[in-house]
Amino acid sequence: MAKAKRIYVCKECGAQTPQWAGRCSDCGAWNSLEEQLLTASTASAQATVSRHSGYAGEQKNEVLPLQAVTSEQAVRWTTGLPELDRVLGGGLVTGSVVLIGGDPGIGKSTLLLQAMASMAASSGLSPLYVSGEESLQQIRLRAERLQLEQSPVDLLAETHAEQMIATARQRQPQVMVIDSIQTVFTELLQSAPGTVAQVRESAAQLVRFAKSTGTTMILVGHVTKQGALAGPRVLEHMVDTVLYFEGDTSTRFRILRAVKNRFGAVNELGVFGMTELGLKEVSNPSAIFLSRGEKAVPGSVVTVVREGSRPLLVEVQALVDDSPLGNPRRVSVGLEQNRLAMLLAILHRHGGITCHDQDVFINVVGGVKLSETGADLAVLAAVLSSLRNKALPRDWVLFGEVGLTGEIRPVQGGEERVRDAGKHGFSHAVVAAANAPRKPISGIKVIAVQHLAEAIEALQNAWH
Ligand code: TYD
Ligand code: MG
Repeated sequence: MAKAKRIYVCKECGAQTPQWAGRCSDCGAWNSLEEQLLTASTASAQATVSRHSGYAGEQKNEVLPLQAVTSEQAVRWTTGLPELDRVLGGGLVTGSVVLIGGDPGIGKSTLLLQAMASMAASSGLSPLYVSGEESLQQIRLRAERLQLEQSPVDLLAETHAEQMIATARQRQPQVMVIDSIQTVFTELLQSAPGTVAQVRESAAQLVRFAKSTGTTMILVGHVTKQGALAGPRVLEHMVDTVLYFEGDTSTRFRILRAVKNRFGAVNELGVFGMTELGLKEVSNPSAIFLSRGEKAVPGSVVTVVREGSRPLLVEVQALVDDSPLGNPRRVSVGLEQNRLAMLLAILHRHGGITCHDQDVFINVVGGVKLSETGADLAVLAAVLSSLRNKALPRDWVLFGEVGLTGEIRPVQGGEERVRDAGKHGFSHAVVAAANAPRKPISGIKVIAVQHLAEAIEALQNAWH
């Protein structure tokens, strides 16, 4: 028998080293190296694969001048789910490979079954849905729940990558779903399905097949507890588009986010609600994140953030309370903890308001994660509102970045945000001076501020 060679593969980034170490020298992750056996036959099989991928001499590609290359206009299919189309950049591009990641149970299989069924119905395609996790009966049961059991979708229960490719070669589906990539294994490797090496190699084979035949392929990937797709980097660079499906399983709402897209904008958001009949799109997401009570209450402030191409109104809540501890708590959900600490320091230094003996809790309602700085002003307003126990009128919004010198800085798309707030019935907007629209917008009064002190004054006038 050929002598097996031992290699160590990093679970996080897929890097290989001949020796074990406590820390991966590539990505710096601790205790992430796993032992694997590389036999002579595996090594030669890998060599065969790389030969077929076009790097070795036999397939010679021509050099062409840039002007001579024709661009084939990308053809897009609509998936029948407008929110999914939006996140994909306007539909599913034919021949592209998409990776959808998310926690188990979030609704990935439901989303894809709905999309495949509606594509089959509207475009006359016959998609192939390959499941490695569920039996055909389980998929049928889901389809019955969704009332899609009559859809012309082909199903295949398979986990063997080579078999999958052989079946696909024979049936030539235009669209193919692999649910999920963690269950797929290739015979080229001896390690168990789900290990980074298996996921990477099977995905590489499937992607190679998709690209060489022009098959559109959607790969489903589960995220690990740390929130990353298993073998994340290796998979993300192989595919054209990476989408994450997020949300709290205890609430109905699910957010689909593009983190990489060769055919559209990243950070685009799609919002869905999980119902008894599957996922339904929410075309006006601001409405759900804003479902507030009738009365104005201290500690609740609305801001406008921009997620992808559209503004989104979200409520920021703060609770400021006397702290029994020598080291008061600063807890934030949906906002980075360090940002909160920084904002409180700015509030003290430039606004003259101190919270050093107070616990401060911040919550962004609806499970939204604020990733932009435009919410700074609203966070401080919520803190102040709770601290003073004064409510801001319900039809006020605030947005703007707060700088370390206490200046209020403009954010992208200011005018659009003000308009969107106006559309949702808000009558006053406190914004950075540079964000104030040149012409007044009917129905909404803009209060332009340049410094934190001016913003605080505007708030105090509003809740006197
Ligand atoms: P699923 O698509 O199986 O999740 P994933 O593939 O991401 O693991 O969805 C699982 C959850 O969705 C499950 O908890 C039940 C719920 N669900 C509904 O609420 N309504 C439905 O119509 C369907 C099909 C599922
Ligand atoms: Mg599933």
